[in-house]
Amino acid sequence: MTEVKATNVHWHDGEVSREDRNALLKQKGATLWFTGLSGSGKSTVAVALEKALMDKGHLCYRLDGDNIRLGINKNLGFSAEDRTENIRRIGEISKLFVDTGVIVLSSFVSPYRADRDIVRDLHVAGDMDFIEVHVDVPLEVAEERDPKGLYKKARAGEIKNFTGISDPYEAPLKPELVLNSHEQSLEEEVAVLLEMLAARGLI
Ligand code: ADX
Repeated sequence: MTEVKATNVHWHDGEVSREDRNALLKQKGATLWFTGLSGSGKSTVAVALEKALMDKGHLCYRLDGDNIRLGINKNLGFSAEDRTENIRRIGEISKLFVDTGVIVLSSFVSPYRADRDIVRDLHVAGDMDFIEVHVDVPLEVAEERDPKGLYKKARAGEIKNFTGISDPYEAPLKPELVLNSHEQSLEEEVAVLLEMLAARGLI
């Protein structure tokens, strides 16, 4: 549980609402949360969806594990505690983007169910859409792909706490969507996602 040190602080409303911003952008801000093993295809599908949404005239923004860890979260490692703080911060950042009316594509291993549920609860409390997408491939597939050579290093004992090898991955119990990047084409995945966003009235 995060220790709250900020006391005597109060939310200050402006004169422009989230609804005003959504109307301006002709869409509804929401968070699509891609979770899965490293190498499962989270970032790949987020990149393709971002392009497809842009082509349709929708503003979205990708938040990606590796990118975020190069900046705001560079002081966090991969212990359970640091991963929890990583996901907590991304959850709050995602919320800020949703409040601006942007469709957020957050791709994080986010291996712990409790951490993802905290982000979900944050969104629900703020009356925001949170769509959990499990990018689900067998470990053997992710390991075979090994795009960054990290599984090889993890197997050799050169990386500690590596998700799927020496650290757990807790699959979502009730994700809004499951994608299987080893069985579906990227085009199919994007089509399913666009259909879901339209069915929810977000685009
Ligand atoms: S999370 O577990 O805290 O959600 P996050 O998505 O930000 O992880 O970062 C995962 C990325 O960091 C992986 O795609 C991989 O490139 C890299 N990485 C480095 N060390 C590890 C590790 N021990 N476990 C998982 N990913 C790692």
